[in-house]
Amino acid sequence: MSDAECVRFLQWALPQLRMRWDGFRKVRGQVRKRLARRLGELGLADTEAYREYLQTHAEEWQYLDTVCRITISRFYRDKGVYAALSKEVMPTLARAAEQRREKLVRVWSAGCGGGEEPYTIAILWHLELRDRYPDLEIEIVATDTDPAMLARARKGRYAFASIKDLPARWRDRAFQQQDSAYRLMPAFRRDITFLERDIRNEQAAGPFDLVLCRNLVFTYFDDALQSELLSRIVVTMRGGAALVLGIHEQLPAAAQGLGSWFDKLRIYREPLCP
Ligand SMILES: C[S@@+](CC[C@H](N)C(=O)[O-])C[C@H]1O[C@@H](n2cnc3c(N)ncnc32)[C@H](O)[C@@H]1O
Repeated sequence: MSDAECVRFLQWALPQLRMRWDGFRKVRGQVRKRLARRLGELGLADTEAYREYLQTHAEEWQYLDTVCRITISRFYRDKGVYAALSKEVMPTLARAAEQRREKLVRVWSAGCGGGEEPYTIAILWHLELRDRYPDLEIEIVATDTDPAMLARARKGRYAFASIKDLPARWRDRAFQQQDSAYRLMPAFRRDITFLERDIRNEQAAGPFDLVLCRNLVFTYFDDALQSELLSRIVVTMRGGAALVLGIHEQLPAAAQGLGSWFDKLRIYREPLCP
């Protein structure tokens, strides 16, 4: 399948899945390979034939939805975000929790991939912050719709390429090398619960102090769905909680009118943007 054919097909199909073409521009290669494989499985000659197939097989749209799932992630992705979390955001949230006499700082990683994001938060907490807040524990709920990604997350074993961006002193303390893989030590795994959830249907149970929703809703979904999901995400956050977006993401235009949300949220991207 040529790139042009893939683009034409995605521009037709994505809006029907409530997704936006712009989000897929750079990552369409991943989708193109999967699409080509699917056409092969169905014995279809090209995307024109696949369009017709979709029109007569409504259930295929669900399969196409999984084809359009982008799963790229890595530990310590966008290091400026983690620097901001470590220096400012999480200390602010921890102090606020202490003032409320809470015992827990609660975090939701929405679209957690293979565990890279929530585990980075756990490592950051244990190696940089925990000693400063001895009365606090961290609880991380990590959700994803893809069972294969969750299985990978629960396994906690990674190739070096996944962990190479971590500061070396964190990497050395958090991982044990086993043959060619790196296994995350149990101390960094116990605070995390992985759950299979499609964020379009179900959110994690709050209240959360920190929500990371990066490189999913605000990249791949259309504007109306972004607005709907933002309002549902916000409900899971306590007052003063922080929402972390991907570095190339913004909240949908409709959010501008929703002043009360902004009283509740502090939004961080890179560069740090409170
Ligand atoms: C590009 S990865 C981002 C991972 C991580 N948040 C990061 O920024 O590195 C997007 C993740 O969202 C998951 N995902 C896609 N659609 C989803 C949905 N509807 N509900 C929940 N997770 C979804 C994918 O399976 C994938 O693991």
